Amino acid sequence: MKLIDGKALAQTIKGEIKAEVEKLVGEGMKKPHLAAVLIGSDPASQVYVRNKVRSCDQVGFTSTLINRPESITQEELLHIIDQLNTDEDIDGFIVQLPLPKHLNEEEVTLAIDHRKDVDGFHPMNIGRMAQGLSSYLPATPYGILQMLERNDIETQGKEVVILGRSNIVGTPMSILLSRKAKNGNATVQLCHSRTVDIPGHCRKADILIAAIGRANYVTADMVKEGAVVIDVGINRVNDPSKKKGYRLDGDVHFESVAPKCSYITPVPGGVGPMTVCSLMMNTLKSCKGEVYPK
Ligand code: GUN
Repeated sequence: MKLIDGKALAQTIKGEIKAEVEKLVGEGMKKPHLAAVLIGSDPASQVYVRNKVRSCDQVGFTSTLINRPESITQEELLHIIDQLNTDEDIDGFIVQLPLPKHLNEEEVTLAIDHRKDVDGFHPMNIGRMAQGLSSYLPATPYGILQMLERNDIETQGKEVVILGRSNIVGTPMSILLSRKAKNGNATVQLCHSRTVDIPGHCRKADILIAAIGRANYVTADMVKEGAVVIDVGINRVNDPSKKKGYRLDGDVHFESVAPKCSYITPVPGGVGPMTVCSLMMNTLKSCKGEVYPK
């Protein structure tokens, strides 16, 4: 069994981005600039956005954090998005989700100029991705593709089972792995709450990707010997022995599953750190005009 160390891989990729930025800026390119919009004071969102801003510093990007109180109106938020859409120095921006209940996430996502949608959430980017056109790939699937590619894990002809059909992980992951493309060409099954016999599907998987948000759901009896297991879950589990009173567990029961795997990602330190890398890669692509020519 080989552990896929997402934290170490993320550091490697950030080092590569930093070197490329230094070279390009030395040749006269402006510094890539990412903006993040954070509404309210959700502790998890604050941590995620702080990580994104810190990563910008690490790779030599400019960053702008726009933090507004929970009381912001939809119109005020749309106005901020308009300004970011037209600000020529901003290469890409994200609006951290989830938004407070009174705000309309769908309208917000649609208001973002798809050419600056480095989260890859806009239907234009999802649609282009589905058709194999250049697009910003959503952070988590893009990070997982990097993990597979950089560990020389072949996807062509493999049986892939994905647990969870969310817009930001399961569904785009299924599209990417089944595309006629490098890191694609897999036979993909997307399992969800209405799937009959999820364990039966899982047992056939050469590559199993768990993104359902249920702690320790995947157990050893559901995994084929030699499978690659990618754990996207980050679930809070009460644990009085921890200072915070909880620990973070994945969707996979790591202890029992790991011995059966050829590769497995841990939680924490697996897929999580890779998602910020994806955002940095997309922002650099935007600055270079690689996805949508300037
Ligand atoms: N909330 C959880 N994941 C994400 C993400 O990738 N982007 C944004 N904007 N919000 C999130």
